[in-house]
Amino acid sequence: MLSEAEHQELNEILKKYPDKRSAVLPALYIAQRARNYLTDDDIRGVAEALDISVTEVQAIVGFYTLLRKDPTGKYIVQVCTDLPCALRGAEEFYRRLCQRLGLPPQGGTTDDGLFTVEAVVCLAACDKVPLAQINLKYYENLSDDRIDAILDGLRRDSEDA
Ligand code: FES
Repeated sequence: MLSEAEHQELNEILKKYPDKRSAVLPALYIAQRARNYLTDDDIRGVAEALDISVTEVQAIVGFYTLLRKDPTGKYIVQVCTDLPCALRGAEEFYRRLCQRLGLPPQGGTTDDGLFTVEAVVCLAACDKVPLAQINLKYYENLSDDRIDAILDGLRRDSEDA
């Protein structure tokens, strides 16, 4: 469900859209931001705010991979393992990362709920392998040590918050 502050933010965004149904993606991003995933209440709240059906909103959530219906970690670590990156060692990089975080080879969420690690297709930085996108920020030309240091930094930030 959208909070009062989220409703206000959405109302500001709606001023830019002649037809408020067109604002469904920004509305869903606002609703998802607090937890990194959307609950049924969030989806219902967006549908009500935009005067569209819950089914229409669910269809959009199902289509876009950046919109999530399952609980995730605070940080979503996406590593490209698509073919050009795989040819340069990205799959092994991904597997080692999962292993160090105590995750199965296909990825998942750490026990502390901090990191969700997943393999994704092309992130459009094929010349900077291995690379990861963490909560939409790019980290390129990674090594095992470098991504461990990045995740340690995020872990510290999270403890300080
Ligand atoms: S194939 Fe990995 S970034 Fe393009």
